[in-house]
Amino acid sequence: MIGLHRGKDYISTQDWTKNELESALQTANRLKHKFRNDIPHLFLPHKTIFLIFFDKSTRTRNSFEAGITQLGGHAHYIDSVTSQISHGESPKDTGIILSSYGHGIAIRHDLIPGQGATYMREIAKWADKPVINMQCDVDHPCQTLGDLMTIRERFGTNLRGLKMAVTWAYAPSYAKPMSVPQGLISLMPRFGVDVVLAHPPEYELMGESMRVAKENAKKSRVKFEVTHNMDEAFENADIVYPKSWGVESLFNQPEESLRIAEKYKSWICDQRRMELANPDAVYMHCLPADRGNEVTDEVIDGQQSIIYQQAENRLHTAKSIMALTM
Ligand code: CP
Repeated sequence: MIGLHRGKDYISTQDWTKNELESALQTANRLKHKFRNDIPHLFLPHKTIFLIFFDKSTRTRNSFEAGITQLGGHAHYIDSVTSQISHGESPKDTGIILSSYGHGIAIRHDLIPGQGATYMREIAKWADKPVINMQCDVDHPCQTLGDLMTIRERFGTNLRGLKMAVTWAYAPSYAKPMSVPQGLISLMPRFGVDVVLAHPPEYELMGESMRVAKENAKKSRVKFEVTHNMDEAFENADIVYPKSWGVESLFNQPEESLRIAEKYKSWICDQRRMELANPDAVYMHCLPADRGNEVTDEVIDGQQSIIYQQAENRLHTAKSIMALTM
């Protein structure tokens, strides 16, 4: 499997066939087994990946840095602010030059709707090495692949008939990107999951992501429904994934965005809502979570929460994508 998709970009899960994603999941399972059992797996000896960040990160940066080291390679952390990117160096020049120095480029550019995915695809056009999306404005394919791995560990590989509630939740910290819910509604129907998306009226997801989600659900013969009622989404759900995101048109006006969010402080994942879901339902969150706002401590620290398994699987899936493409 190693090198099976050498040179292929991973900018959206939608760019990979189901079989290609299946190979990534199987490779992640094998890498998890090796990591947990201290079995050496130096599949990318002396290879270099460049990690370009336009935003902060804990899980993504460290899963890639630790992951490439465990595979025998090395990561260079590039902060957009302290590199020539901040002086306006073009994605063409950045892509050509970095790909001539190493074997892969990964990018996080998630905070401005309309910019991140476009930047990545421009880098990918010029780089002759794979480009991996560490979160953009449209998708967070490393997160959702890890989420799918976690869901399959809990429910098995046949997910048909499961109901997943992807819902907005209140957070006062900052306007979080839209890419995780967009990635989830696009990917999960392809693997047989019925999805209900819930959000207040102002928090619509991008039109293209909604179109892709509807089309994927139709092709996979699963349900994709939208509601403005958080309770309705939770009813009889098997998986709940409540998280905050910003208003698409207000990412450059954080105060106005927070003013709107304050109307919806009641959109919290608490024990009452968990009891609307199936008794064996799982609580998921990509993290970081706004504890006390998006979710109560009782839920996030409770028996139904699988957030740490989910976060751990970011390591194994990041390694899988690097090992397959670099
Ligand atoms: N979930 C996630 O992408 O976490 P970080 O922002 O810490 O990378």
